[in-house]
Amino acid sequence: MTRKISIFDTTLRDGEQSPGASMNTEEKLIIARQLIRMNVDVIEAGFPISSPGDFKSVAEIGRIAGDKCTVCGLTRAVDKDIEVAAEALKTAKRPRIHTGLGVSPSHLRDKLHLTEDEAIERAVHAVKLARSFVDDVEFYAEDAGRADQDFLCRIIEAAVKAGATVVNIPDTTGYNMPWAFGARIADLRERVDGIEDVTISVHTHNDLGMATALAIEAVRNGATQVECTINGLGERAGNTALEEVVMAIRMHGQELDAHTDIVTQELTRASKLVSSITGMTVQANKAIVGANAFAHSSGIHQDGVLKARDTYEIIDPADVGAGGSQIILSARSGHAALRHRMAELGFTFTDEEFEDIYQAFLEVADKKKEVYDEDLESIVHERERVNTAVWDLDALQVSCGFPLTPTATITLTNVDGETFTECAYGTGPVDAAYKAVDKIVAVANDLAEFSVKAVTRGIDALGEVTVRVTAENGEVYIGRGSDGDIIVSSTKAYLNALNRLISDQKSR
Ligand code: KIV
Ligand code: ZN
Repeated sequence: MTRKISIFDTTLRDGEQSPGASMNTEEKLIIARQLIRMNVDVIEAGFPISSPGDFKSVAEIGRIAGDKCTVCGLTRAVDKDIEVAAEALKTAKRPRIHTGLGVSPSHLRDKLHLTEDEAIERAVHAVKLARSFVDDVEFYAEDAGRADQDFLCRIIEAAVKAGATVVNIPDTTGYNMPWAFGARIADLRERVDGIEDVTISVHTHNDLGMATALAIEAVRNGATQVECTINGLGERAGNTALEEVVMAIRMHGQELDAHTDIVTQELTRASKLVSSITGMTVQANKAIVGANAFAHSSGIHQDGVLKARDTYEIIDPADVGAGGSQIILSARSGHAALRHRMAELGFTFTDEEFEDIYQAFLEVADKKKEVYDEDLESIVHERERVNTAVWDLDALQVSCGFPLTPTATITLTNVDGETFTECAYGTGPVDAAYKAVDKIVAVANDLAEFSVKAVTRGIDALGEVTVRVTAENGEVYIGRGSDGDIIVSSTKAYLNALNRLISDQKSR
């Protein structure tokens, strides 16, 4: 069996420190329930002395956690902080006090104004006081990543002797390179007396984009607890992202000799929940939980994924609770991807038909960033309309604006291959185009209804126009047309209705 790595989630404490991400108790409880569902080992529920809201959150989360996970409250190495945290944690079945202080030269000198010996004294006092309230005390050596290593060994050893059950080695400023941070952990394991009896935890920040790498390197060197947040939320550039660490350990468990007990299928749900509650959107290309994490855009990748998913995916989307691999249709997509999606939508074509469809698809894709299912349906229907047409639209030019008179010049070809061009003016560009069509097609009708809607999302969406025309004999014919340009879709729709009218009346 590989080593169990405890997942300590601090979304509700360090994560909440992200500017703009503060949450009320109700919101924290919703997230805590999800963390429990995911089976995290420790929830850092808040910093009880910092506000009555944080106190209440720690107490409430302690109540709902029962014995499913440890609930932890943060303190400074200050008596009052520890007493208040102990009070808040009274509801918890498995309480932990997380206490500590800065240990780097700049924290000691500029922030705390303490000598090294004074800092050790304060750490020992804090751990002992915390232990007088609870059995589980975690000592953090803030800014350990920039501390003098000899001093770090001394203060950690003193904390262990004072009764700490967990020692937290944070790279508070995300300064380290992974190998250097890993070496610190290995060195602590070698030099600190009694460290083999406690859990070594790491808490890394993402200032150089290394947070996950730092945590994994620490695990490789003996850490057995990782502190992290959903979506990597946290101070400045954030903390280690829980979903990244969990999946990295899952994918490389054998070489790391490590596993976690996280229910990975809950990761996407957790990410969405935290994003919607905090209003902190997840970047589309975020590892594991970003909207594009399982989306394939280039033709070569799409072809590969359609042949075998693992050509371009190392994780099965189902393993993280994501919907599935996505093939994004765009101008970069090839035949294989389009044929695949069309088949999923229920459309099959001969090779010759498909070539036509593919060309029409490229025309739409050239105008749009992404081609959606509704666009594909429109392309197919448009092609059916053109194939049964008596009159075909060859060209359309309109000029309109304020205070111009809207005019349209139109070229149509009939089934016999004859081409006609006419121009007209109207009350608007659509009216002008319809009048130009009437001059060529010359079939009596009354335009009874005209409606336009966007087929898909975005400003570049295809516009679909539906018209109803009434023939002289009272029959009603519906016409539809779609295009990125709504004057063109309007004209196509009108022609489609007239084509139906003419075909119907001829067949009678
Ligand atoms: O980044 C840090 O060092 C912290 C400690 C309070 C654990 O958040
Ligand atoms: Zn932190």
